[in-house]
Amino acid sequence: MYTSYDNIGLLKVLKFLKSHEDDFLSGQDLSDVLKISRVAVWKHIKTIKSLGYKIESKQKLGYRLVKNSEKLLPWEITEGLKTQTVGKKVYYFDTVDSTQNYAIEISKKKNESGSVVISQRQTAGRGRMNRKWITIKGGLSMSVVLHPKFDASVSTLFPMAASLALATAIQKTINIKPNVKWPNDVVIKGKKVAGMIVDASIQSNLIESMVLGVGINFKVDTKHLESQLKGTKNFYGVASLLKIDDTTNPLKIVQNFFSELEKIIVLLDQGETSKIIQRWEKISSTIGKKVSVKTNDGIITGLAKKINSDGSLNIVKNGKVQRLLVGDISI
Ligand code: BTN
Repeated sequence: MYTSYDNIGLLKVLKFLKSHEDDFLSGQDLSDVLKISRVAVWKHIKTIKSLGYKIESKQKLGYRLVKNSEKLLPWEITEGLKTQTVGKKVYYFDTVDSTQNYAIEISKKKNESGSVVISQRQTAGRGRMNRKWITIKGGLSMSVVLHPKFDASVSTLFPMAASLALATAIQKTINIKPNVKWPNDVVIKGKKVAGMIVDASIQSNLIESMVLGVGINFKVDTKHLESQLKGTKNFYGVASLLKIDDTTNPLKIVQNFFSELEKIIVLLDQGETSKIIQRWEKISSTIGKKVSVKTNDGIITGLAKKINSDGSLNIVKNGKVQRLLVGDISI
């Protein structure tokens, strides 16, 4: 596991390589300037390479950084991040059971507000309604720890607000206009590109902590993922944000998502739920459509009319309004 706070030596070497991108730096130079042993320099270079940075090594000349890593490494995220708390501390794993589980564990500490847990692979990723979440190559999996000030009554709107934040960040960063699908999915051309889950600890109407889990199909082989998901509950097709050979680094999207998330939390703090719902409805693929919703009480079909302040969906059938708080839209 990596954070920006450990690995000081490694970060010193990396920073130095980054600031001399055109030059080769010898092990001896690095050792002299950074005041660490040559063995330590060599070890750090090995780790830096294993983290996905491309380093050219030439005998007698030394090392040169050729390409940055595409992994969402803590120090890459925090550099240039324009938020107050979200993403200021990042825990990065190559493999973890579920970023959500790890984030829930640390969420008990108040000084973890805004901390983000990211993993390249998850062995037991969790989706909504006790379903599995599969992370394949090119997928992004992260969980954000929050200790929000907003009222517990707003907590059911929060996952929808978070999906709006992600859709906005995607649009601002790569100019693709995704839609949102009730309750918390982000979709492209009707297919799922991201999903959200929220685990909240609420005591006597006060939010103690919340963990937002986000799974994004950033650059995935959709056919491969669809073959694994076909037949599972709430499967309606998989979309990938970018083509598999696209070279866009996910960093900017993630940083912008953190900024948008923070802005939306401020709106929730201020009780501006109607602003959020308005923006959500505007880019929704649900409102105004005839939908079928699978609920615990069976399938309900009707016109998706509007979102209420608690995030519930009003369905109208034969002039009768039904208010749904949980469910999966199948059409
Ligand atoms: C859904 O649409 O069902 C929600 C999917 C949420 C998946 C993310 S991936 C990161 C985080 N860790 C988990 O185990 N789940 C969430």
